[in-house]
Amino acid sequence: MSALLTVTALHAGYGTVPVLRGVSLYVNAGEIVAIVGANGAGKSTLLGAISGLLPPTGGTIMFRGADVTARPAHRGPASGMALVPEGGRLFPFLTVEDNLLLGGFTVADKAERLRRLNEVMETFPILGERRFQLAGKLSGGERQMCAVARAIMSRPALMMLDEPSVGLSPLMVERILAAVQTLVARIGLSVLLVEQNTVEALEVADRAYVLDHGNFVLDGPARTLAADPRVQQAYMGL
Ligand SMILES: Nc1ncnc2c1ncn2[C@@H]1O[C@H](COP(=O)(O)OP(=O)(O)OP(=O)(O)O)[C@@H](O)[C@H]1O
Ligand SMILES: [Mg+2]
Repeated sequence: MSALLTVTALHAGYGTVPVLRGVSLYVNAGEIVAIVGANGAGKSTLLGAISGLLPPTGGTIMFRGADVTARPAHRGPASGMALVPEGGRLFPFLTVEDNLLLGGFTVADKAERLRRLNEVMETFPILGERRFQLAGKLSGGERQMCAVARAIMSRPALMMLDEPSVGLSPLMVERILAAVQTLVARIGLSVLLVEQNTVEALEVADRAYVLDHGNFVLDGPARTLAADPRVQQAYMGL
């Protein structure tokens, strides 16, 4: 069986400045794969390139058996990928419910959209309680949950999360990542998780890649990487 996502020798950058220098990775169906690395390593650039926001300058991206390397970003949701950008990027002046419904805008059937809305509010009960509140009034953790829930509304095969734990308390980090694990188990989702919180990321991930200056320098089962002294010293503060 081929992987859900296969990225081969990917190059991307901004203007004439290269950031990704030949990155290759794969994500199998039902896997949580973590990308860890320091500030500026190119993690967000990688998610941008995979989701189609940033056209790659080289390499290929295969998703569900199709070459999506040159696919424009607005095709993302319909094609089965959903990106939760850094900070969540909710619409602050819309309610929680309206933010969630926007995540399901590709679903033509209104009844199905409402069914999914109820389902995500069951998964994240706090969003049900805050349903008619403006998204801009949510706490950091609630906002991140809302962003994840919004991404789930399109029933993606692959959800990409860019540092969901940034600025959150350790308890909130655990809750968000536990919710992601639950979703993976419940709806057979695959996840590409970018995190600076390496300890937590390696706890929930099946496999991981270490990105350094636009190249992967290490990869393997998350448990193996978590026990690697090089990873512990450089990224886990041990
Ligand atoms: N829009 C942009 N225009 C120009 N350069 C950019 C742009 N976005 C990022 N860069 C540069 O590309 C490099 C990689 O940035 P990127 O945001 O991918 O890193 P990151 O690993 O996500 O870092 P962080 O952990 O801080 O989020 C950095 O040197 C950054 O300054
Ligand atoms: Mg980033």
